[in-house]
Amino acid sequence: MNRLVTPRSAPGSSGPTPTPDFGQRLSVIHWPQSPHLPNLLVVKAFVVSDEGGRLSREVLDYEPHQVNDDDLLVEVHYSSVNFKDALVASSPSRVRRVDTVVGGVDAAGVVVKGDALVPRGTSVAVHGGDIGVNRDGGFAEFLYAPRRCLSPLPSAISTRDAMIIGTAGFTAMASVLALEDRGLVRGANVLVTGATGGVGSQSVAYLARMGYRPTAATGSPREREWLVDLGAAQVIDRDAIDDRPQRVLATEQWDGAVDCVGGETLHRVLRSLRYGAAVAASGLVAGSGLDTTLYPFITRAVSLVGIDAVAAPPKTRRRVWDSIAALAPLIDFERFVDHLTTLDGISNALDEVARGATRGRTLVALRDS
Ligand SMILES: NC(=O)c1ccc[n+]([C@@H]2O[C@H](COP(=O)([O-])OP(=O)(O)OC[C@H]3O[C@@H](n4cnc5c(N)ncnc54)[C@H](OP(=O)(O)O)[C@@H]3O)[C@@H](O)[C@H]2O)c1
Repeated sequence: MNRLVTPRSAPGSSGPTPTPDFGQRLSVIHWPQSPHLPNLLVVKAFVVSDEGGRLSREVLDYEPHQVNDDDLLVEVHYSSVNFKDALVASSPSRVRRVDTVVGGVDAAGVVVKGDALVPRGTSVAVHGGDIGVNRDGGFAEFLYAPRRCLSPLPSAISTRDAMIIGTAGFTAMASVLALEDRGLVRGANVLVTGATGGVGSQSVAYLARMGYRPTAATGSPREREWLVDLGAAQVIDRDAIDDRPQRVLATEQWDGAVDCVGGETLHRVLRSLRYGAAVAASGLVAGSGLDTTLYPFITRAVSLVGIDAVAAPPKTRRRVWDSIAALAPLIDFERFVDHLTTLDGISNALDEVARGATRGRTLVALRDS
């Protein structure tokens, strides 16, 4: 793997200084000047490597590279740690198909090598496609990405806010919009599962600001006050989603639902939706299987709506980011931050996310400002 240059020197030590090979990469010399680019070719990155089942997760000096000639270059200000990042950084991995990759499915920063549609200086969120899964991601100071993975940020959203939101918040808003597209009416009682997580907590806040009554279902009762503060009309235990376990169908309770948990939880949601209601399903933290019956569908006309942030087309990406931006004046995004870390703290953060031990979002700062 010739893209790894050298392990990062320990702080204070005088490790080897990487020597950029300008001769092989003349094109990068034309990159715009940036005060944050002391060395254009070697950047700090959190690299996941899995050589025959031997997993390593390290901060290394790393050479970003273009996959395609028209890839754009982004100076990353912030990234964030998602459940999917933990899946990428495990061995064997359910999602990663390459041996070595810079992790980070999310990044936000400023374009330093752009094109006519996304010029230099544009603030962007980078997410979707293979970013951070099968091509290098946002846990790095600089990142090459295809234009389809770049979302120019509305002016109401800073790069820091964008990474507090991240793919999780994008998915939360995409879920709410999907329910609205199926006729959700303001004031409706909407269940949110996994409520203290990234998708769940932002779903609660967005629903509340948009005039709905979110019910937060959680396995973390100690976070009740925080969830109410975000806008939850009520907080219930994750086991209290439905009743009548001996019957095929539970009491009709929910006018809609946002579910990022999957498995048995999704089954319970389906059997307790009201007639004609829909659940927007995006996640599988409790399992990828779904053991349910057809009764909710054929006797209550409920809908199971799949949500995908990864391959969302440009129109959807714009709609979702604009919808979040419209709420931005009403939301203190900092309330979602579990903690702020740096590249050095990502490995621990991944373990915490995998254990479900975080509340809201783990933000990664790539620069000081
Ligand atoms: N489809 C897409 O495009 C897309 C995009 C983004 C995320 N996702 C998926 O959505 C899911 C959530 O992502 P996230 O970033 O929000 O993760 P997260 O921050 O880790 O939140 C997941 C939450 O689920 C709950 N939970 C954890 N383990 C559970 C279990 N065994 N049973 C029931 N509930 C459990 C916890 O909340 P409580 O303690 O409050 O119950 C946890 O905070 C993941 O599967 C992720 O891959 C999909």
